[in-house]
Amino acid sequence: MSKTIIVSNRLPLQVKIENDNLEITPSVGGLATGMKSVHSEGDGIWIGWSGLTEEELDESLKKKVEQEVKKEKCATVPLTQEDLEHYYFGFSNRTLWPLFHYFMEYTEFEKDYWDSYVTVNKKFAEVVLKHAEKGDTIWVHDYQLLLLPGLIRESMPDISIGFFLHIPFPSYEIFRTFPWREEVLTGMLGADLLGFHTYDYERHFLSSIKRILRLDVNFNEIIYKDRVVKVDSFPMGIDYNKFHKAAKENMDRLPAERSDLQQRIDDHFMKDKEAKLILSIDRMDYTKGIPNRIRAFEYFLNKYPEFKQKVRLVMLAVPSRSNVPQYQLLKKETDELVGRINGQFATVSWTPIWYFYRSLPFDNLIDLYTSADVALITPVRDGMNLVAKEYIATRVKKDGVLILSEMAGAAKEMNEALLINPNNFEAMADTLKQALEMPVKEQKKRNTMLQKRLRRYSIDKWAAEFFKALKATQNLGQVIV
Ligand code: UDP
Ligand code: G6P
Repeated sequence: MSKTIIVSNRLPLQVKIENDNLEITPSVGGLATGMKSVHSEGDGIWIGWSGLTEEELDESLKKKVEQEVKKEKCATVPLTQEDLEHYYFGFSNRTLWPLFHYFMEYTEFEKDYWDSYVTVNKKFAEVVLKHAEKGDTIWVHDYQLLLLPGLIRESMPDISIGFFLHIPFPSYEIFRTFPWREEVLTGMLGADLLGFHTYDYERHFLSSIKRILRLDVNFNEIIYKDRVVKVDSFPMGIDYNKFHKAAKENMDRLPAERSDLQQRIDDHFMKDKEAKLILSIDRMDYTKGIPNRIRAFEYFLNKYPEFKQKVRLVMLAVPSRSNVPQYQLLKKETDELVGRINGQFATVSWTPIWYFYRSLPFDNLIDLYTSADVALITPVRDGMNLVAKEYIATRVKKDGVLILSEMAGAAKEMNEALLINPNNFEAMADTLKQALEMPVKEQKKRNTMLQKRLRRYSIDKWAAEFFKALKATQNLGQVIV
């Protein structure tokens, strides 16, 4: 029977060694949380990196890891410490990630990183080819594996390959600066279908294809060698029912059954019924606009002092890629900003920012989402942003206000949110005031429309549409050149 093989750099679970035992935790990030729902329902396999390097594993541990991931229908790609430094921290996160998010000043073009990227993409191809059989469908994910579709195609010319990019595809003016632009584009063209979150990313990609590779493009079809490659946008959804149901259960819980975190939040509201909670959740990443958000909050407190003592910003920043210098600097900047603002404004009974630098289990995320009057999501650039969608899905009573950056892919489908430019502090402060004062009737009106759309375009629907489009590429036939 034919199967689906999902391939991404990170598996949905991360393996660590704690006191000689294996510790398994769920992976963080939109790709993992989104695709997990798709994978759990199918009978395919997910291939990726376990989170451990070869140097950390002896033969017996290696077997144990393989057994553990197999239980979750996964298989691993062995990566060495050097692969991790050059391919993952290097080319993926010091070259592609900043370049594709328009952070030219952070982008490093290093030949060693590129060589390692090619080597590791080949390692992924080897594992995929071990598992792939005629008739299977292969679905490759994200910027760490841009060469993989081409590498698989070389060995299996007839297999069906889809590729989805979870981050923005930058405009031609940015992409043209990239030394390995032809190699990366031709690698991607190994797929039959290339998916992006938004029409703009798709358009940017097609423009680079036309201007760099000088290929023929008919609407969204590219003629490449003897094949037709289709390009389309598929805005990724969330597992709406899972979040909505969890939020309902959370609200029905008796006080004694509530988590410590929830009880702390409840205490805060008990003291002051008019208190409002503003929430942000992101990986600690410079694309997420964390310092801008804190500065805008400071500006807000100075401009509208009547909100002092009344509002609290709860900021969850999940540790991410902390070996990369820019991420270390961001952490330092964030710590200092939070310290300065809390020092400046705090009173005996009020701290303006509650800052958590860690990841939280699902139930605690739900506690935060359901307690927040406002979600303040301000990335300076973001492929999609699932947190914005998760917040709306948990609003069981349909109240709450989402403030969302125009620079997030999600903004394209969430017009009823309050959309802001994350570089405009004045507008952010005014929008925060507007959100905190928005009549409940208006909140409900906006959220009703948002929820309806999110429920309809859930993650299942997203995956189904992608598969449907991938299947349809088989009917496009071969092009004779
Ligand atoms: N998330 C998580 N644990 C946390 C905080 C967040 O699993 O402690 C999840 C969150 O629920 C969301 C994902 O991480 O599904 C973040 O995805 P998003 O698209 O917002 O951003 P990305 O991290 O992919 O850039
Ligand atoms: C984003 C990327 C994913 C990545 C995730 C977490 O969502 O699109 O590919 O897995 O961030 O980042 P990490 O580097 O920890 O895998």
